[in-house]
Amino acid sequence: MYSIHLCALLFTSFACSAFAANYQLSDNHVGSDFLSSFVHEAIADPTHGRVTYVDQATAIAQNLTFASGDTLIMRADSTTRLAPSDAGRKSVRIRSVKTYTTHVTVFDIRHMPQGCGTWPAAWEIGDDWPNLVENPTYYRLEGVNDQSPNAMTLHTSANCNMPASRDETGTPTGNNCDVNTSGNTGCGVQAPTADSYGPAFNAIGGGWYAMERTTTFIKVWFWGRNSGNVPSDVRNGGGSVNTDAWGTPTAFFPNSQCDINSHFGPNEIVINLTFCGDWAGQSGVFNGAGCPGDCTTFVDENPSAFVNAFWNIAAVRVYT
Ligand SMILES: *[C@@H]1O[C@H](CO)[C@@H](O)[C@H](O)[C@H]1NC(C)=O
Ligand SMILES: *[C@@H]1O[C@H](CO)[C@@H](O)[C@H](O)[C@H]1NC(C)=O
Ligand SMILES: *[C@@H]1O[C@H](CO)[C@@H](O)[C@H](O)[C@H]1NC(C)=O
Repeated sequence: MYSIHLCALLFTSFACSAFAANYQLSDNHVGSDFLSSFVHEAIADPTHGRVTYVDQATAIAQNLTFASGDTLIMRADSTTRLAPSDAGRKSVRIRSVKTYTTHVTVFDIRHMPQGCGTWPAAWEIGDDWPNLVENPTYYRLEGVNDQSPNAMTLHTSANCNMPASRDETGTPTGNNCDVNTSGNTGCGVQAPTADSYGPAFNAIGGGWYAMERTTTFIKVWFWGRNSGNVPSDVRNGGGSVNTDAWGTPTAFFPNSQCDINSHFGPNEIVINLTFCGDWAGQSGVFNGAGCPGDCTTFVDENPSAFVNAFWNIAAVRVYT
C-alpha cells in the first residue's frame, strides 16, 4: 500500500506500475480447475522412485485425486501392500497446461505429504527436463523423509552461480546451480524455520510459498499459516499482488553471476509425490531420518504409513 501511494505522488501511473512490482492475477487454480488446467502425467519417474504415477481417470476413480470446492487433494495409495515384482506405489503428478516466464506463483498449501520415503515437490520446470539439453532449469520446493526445513533450490545448466552473501532470511547450502558440477544438488537455500516443511508445516495448517521470477532475479518467500507477516494480498488471494511490500525473501537468487534470462525458459508448474529414488531412497538419507530398513521395502510393505502422504492445496495463483 505504502509504495503504491508513494508512487502515485511521485510518478505517473505508468512509471509507477513499472516501479512497484505489481502483478495482476492471470490464472487462479482452485478445486476442480486443476482437472482442466493441469494434466495428470502417468510417466516414469526420472529420479527412479518406487512410484507409479496414474492418469487422471484412474486418480479420480481411486480417489487419489479429489477436487471439490476450494480443495484439491492428491495422495498416494495407502491400502495396497506391494510385492517386489509389483510396480511402485500409486501416486499423482500434475503439470500445468500453461507455461510461464516472468511471473509470480503463490502456492496456498494446507498439507503436504509426510512419511518415511516420501519425496514431495511443488516446483517449476522447463519443457525439456529430464533431457538436460537446452534449458533444463527450474526451482523447486521439496524435501524427503519429513526432514525439515524446506530447501528452495535452482538446478541449471553451466555458468550459474550465486553470491555467498545476499539479502535473504534463509541459509545457502550450495552456490553453484549447475546440475553437472554439484551432483545435481543445485544451489539451495534452507528456510529459517522448521515449520516450512513436513509434519511441522502440517501441524500449523501449512502456509504460503510464493515465487517471483523477473528477468534479473528469482525470489521465494514462505509464510506459515498463522505468521503475523503474511502480506494481505497473499492471505486474501486477491486480484493483484505487490511483491515490493513482501519484505526480505526467504531465498534470493540474483543475476550477478547467473544470467537468469538465458538459463530460464518457459516453465510449467509441477506438483508431485514420489518415493525413495535418487534422493529419499539413499540409505544414509533414509536411515539418517530415522526411517527403518530399506526404503523400497518400507514403501512396499507399509501402506498405512502413507495415510498422511497427501497434498491438500487451497490454490495455486499465477500473477503476471
Ligand atoms: C518428482 O519430484 C522430484 C522432486 O523434485 C523430482 O526430482 C522427480 O523427478 C519428480 N518425478 C517426476 C516423475 O516428476
Ligand atoms: C475421497 O477423498 C475425499 C477427501 O479426502 C473424501 O472427503 C471423500 O470421502 C473420499 N471419497 C470416497 C468415495 O472415499
Ligand atoms: C551435463 O554434461 C553432459 C555431458 O557433458 C552434457 O551432455 C549435458 O548437456 C550437461 N547438462 C547440462 C544441464 O549442462
